[in-house]
Amino acid sequence: MLSQTDTLSLLANRRPNYALEQDLYCDPGVFALDLEHVFYKEWLFAIPACELPKAGAFATLQVGAYPVVITRGNDGMVRAFHNVCRHRGQRLCAKETGSTPKLVCPYHQWTYDLDGKLLYARDMQDGFDPAAHGLKKVHCVDLGGMVFICLAEVPPPISDLAPKLMSYLAPSGLKDAKVAFSSTIVEKGNWKLVIENNRECYHCGGSHPSLCRTYSDNPRMTAMEGPDSASPDILDHWKRCEAAGLPSRFTNHPQMQWRLARIPLLNNAESYTMSTKAAVAKRMGTMPFNDAGSLLFFHYPNTWNHFLGDHAIVFRILPISPTETEVTTKWLVHKDAVEGVDYDIPNLTEVWLNTNDEDRQVVEENQKGILSPAYEPGPYSTIQEEGVIQFVDWYAGLMQGRLAPKPAMAAE
Ligand code: FES
Ligand SMILES: [Fe+2]
Repeated sequence: MLSQTDTLSLLANRRPNYALEQDLYCDPGVFALDLEHVFYKEWLFAIPACELPKAGAFATLQVGAYPVVITRGNDGMVRAFHNVCRHRGQRLCAKETGSTPKLVCPYHQWTYDLDGKLLYARDMQDGFDPAAHGLKKVHCVDLGGMVFICLAEVPPPISDLAPKLMSYLAPSGLKDAKVAFSSTIVEKGNWKLVIENNRECYHCGGSHPSLCRTYSDNPRMTAMEGPDSASPDILDHWKRCEAAGLPSRFTNHPQMQWRLARIPLLNNAESYTMSTKAAVAKRMGTMPFNDAGSLLFFHYPNTWNHFLGDHAIVFRILPISPTETEVTTKWLVHKDAVEGVDYDIPNLTEVWLNTNDEDRQVVEENQKGILSPAYEPGPYSTIQEEGVIQFVDWYAGLMQGRLAPKPAMAAE
């Protein structure tokens, strides 16, 4: 098991534009450091806000060792808490989603308000202070319909992302959406392999026959590298969309922790369907035309997303072990769209269910090869895999900053 010092030295000595060393993709010590310094410190995408349509709705998720519950309060606010009872530590909500007027611990029925306040604890002695035993808060923001949480005591700034994401998402109608379908799979691969695979389409032609009907595998068409590398087609698309009031141009975090860009689909396709036509008759938001393409949004370490004119697909990854990652995909449609009338689930979900399964296989085979003693990091293509290079640089930079001995500590 690698120590902090060993991990730091692997990161510091890595070869630029090359895949990472084996241990960084499988070692339990590195995994523990990834949890501590990435997943327990950064903002994470948790759920689409529409998953909590009314007061009392809740959703749970597990981030490493932390069970978290997210609620919508009677005041309409979305809040997140450690999903741990303040009595003897029972996990409060075991269900993935549900609705309840109060959060009642299943063990001894301590009862909490949706805002975390302890309302009731039976037969506690004089001197017990309910006010000191409310649920512990987790930082939580709803950015235009996407709920992010942060487990850090002091979260990193999100003010760079917030206004951009809200303005880009505004026409996509997430406020009037519902979850039409949800899928969770476990990929037997390190979380970084899952993200690396997502950040390139070098593999798409060989792996994704369904997706390639509508999604270009040309990196210049999907603006992987940056606004300056976009093709004339994509520049025209941005001009047309922005003239119609859709924020579309590539915009990003300085270290590329996140990026937003609207890309055209192939041959004026309307949506990610086998027919290339819209999957949902009742459209979302205020898209002015059917071929506005897909608004792409990723945020490291755990989400990538597609927002179309007729539906949206949000993806969340959560690491389970050094070589296992949970991938949850949710298909969002207009809340008034009627299943069987305005859309049907197989047509809506076919392309991305196929694509997810194909990506799962790619990631699992990638992990198996990396576990071989014969594995040696190979070079990324700077034409096709700029997105992977950016991710690995972001990860390595963040970890090196966090793992490096702090001057004040070194003096101790
Ligand atoms: S552990 Fe929750 S009420 Fe006892
Ligand atoms: Fe893929």
